[in-house]
Amino acid sequence: MSIEHPSFGKLDDNRIIIFDTTLRDGEQSPGFSMNLNEKIRMAEALAELGVDVMEAGFPIASPGDFESVKAIAESLGQRDDTPVICGLARTGREDIFSAADAVRPAKRKRIHIFLSTSPLHMKYKLRMEPDEVLQLASDSVVLARNFADDVEWSAEDGTRTDPDFLCRCVEAAIKAGASTINIPDTVGYALPEDMTRIFTMIRERVPGADKVVLSTHNHNDLGLAVANTLAAITAGVRQIESTINGIGERAGNASLEEAVMAIRTRQDAVPFHNNIKTRNLLKVSKLLSTVTGFDVQPNKAIVGRNAFAHEAGIHQDGVLKHAATYEIMTPESVGWSKSSLVMGKHSGRAAFRDKLRSLGYTIGDNQLNVAFRRFKDIADRKKVVYDEDIVALVDDEVVRDHERVRFVSLDVHAGSKAPARAEMELEVDGEVRSAAAAGDGPVDATFRAIHAIFPHEANLVLFSVGAVTTGTDAQAKTTVRLEENGKMVDGQGADLDTIVSAARAYVHALNKLLVKRARTEPEALSA
Ligand code: KIV
Ligand code: ZN
Repeated sequence: MSIEHPSFGKLDDNRIIIFDTTLRDGEQSPGFSMNLNEKIRMAEALAELGVDVMEAGFPIASPGDFESVKAIAESLGQRDDTPVICGLARTGREDIFSAADAVRPAKRKRIHIFLSTSPLHMKYKLRMEPDEVLQLASDSVVLARNFADDVEWSAEDGTRTDPDFLCRCVEAAIKAGASTINIPDTVGYALPEDMTRIFTMIRERVPGADKVVLSTHNHNDLGLAVANTLAAITAGVRQIESTINGIGERAGNASLEEAVMAIRTRQDAVPFHNNIKTRNLLKVSKLLSTVTGFDVQPNKAIVGRNAFAHEAGIHQDGVLKHAATYEIMTPESVGWSKSSLVMGKHSGRAAFRDKLRSLGYTIGDNQLNVAFRRFKDIADRKKVVYDEDIVALVDDEVVRDHERVRFVSLDVHAGSKAPARAEMELEVDGEVRSAAAAGDGPVDATFRAIHAIFPHEANLVLFSVGAVTTGTDAQAKTTVRLEENGKMVDGQGADLDTIVSAARAYVHALNKLLVKRARTEPEALSA
């Protein structure tokens, strides 16, 4: 089997195309929405990671989605070495026009059309007869081909679709000009053997299936998304759709880092290759956590804090004697490094920039200046500055770029003798404003002061603090979740001072809320 693909040319038989949908399916999960700046930062990190296709959004869903897909197509999409930029669309003309418009600036672009094919979805969601769906599959692909050579067609709820009908739809989409055929397990219902059966059937029964890339897209409702992805590969699939940290609708999508490392670690069983630079995995995972405010659980495979930590003495002993006794891959291969003393208060700007490069960051001069000032501040106050400290403060600056409300300063008086009191300065739309407030403890006083400067209706629904490294002088990393009229946002902040980190997190969440308020709500869309 050798496929000539419009975006990738002649594909070798063992190449797996990595399709990332963190910015689309991932962003669809509640509380995970990102603003334009955050999406662009994530898109750059995904490109550096080496994904082949980046689904940048669902352009018809909202003006904000359209703008971010277009902005990514205009910036990243101009380089030859960057991923194919993809926009999602339903089968309607407006959807397809919108996706086509949004990806147009990209040198390599894809329109991804999805259409439900299962009896349940056709009857209750689409209210259409199978023959109408079949016709729509074909017509929509033909329309999309006017705007892009690279068109992907997805059979939504494909794994619960009648096998004969699925084959007819796939055949129609291929004849209409789709070069990638995706069979999503939309509701996370399938088992690995279903994957084997479905893709083997398509390859055996559908004319032209050997000339297109077959793709798998698995949701994790039964915790089987990665297992299903691997089963699909062994059944002939050559594109896998996944997200960083496995984020996505409901229980999420197949996690990119897990699927990629399973392929790399089990070459004996899955002898395929891809372009992912695995050493970047941890960095991208952390950036996503910073941007969305959701950390992965400590035991999360590959990128969780405990993924390479050995607690039991017998394991520690084994690893010291020979790492492979209890480690199936090296921590370094996915980006973990031992905490290292990096620099002190005498380190200069050039050394700081070099350090950032070695950690995989290339940031603009303005961000560098701000990050350097904060580094100096930390180096003055903290005995040892670790790589993790630098990563935390740079990520913290990155998420703050272009914010309407900015943290300027905070002075807090707390203790057991008098009510806590906070004096706060914030910059709002370029103008510095200040307020003082008392509260039940320093955090409450701080949040009240923010409220006094920038009145808002949002409720605080989550407040959590963790440490970036160990020791009493570790930086605090805070998450704040605000809720307003059913809209939920998470903000993050990091600082040596726990209360300052809380204030930064609150301000970050507030900025996200402002972006979310400005966004029009998408009509009920399914994907
Ligand atoms: O889960 C799903 O079916 C999807 C499609 C849009 C591919 O996300
Ligand atoms: Zn999905």
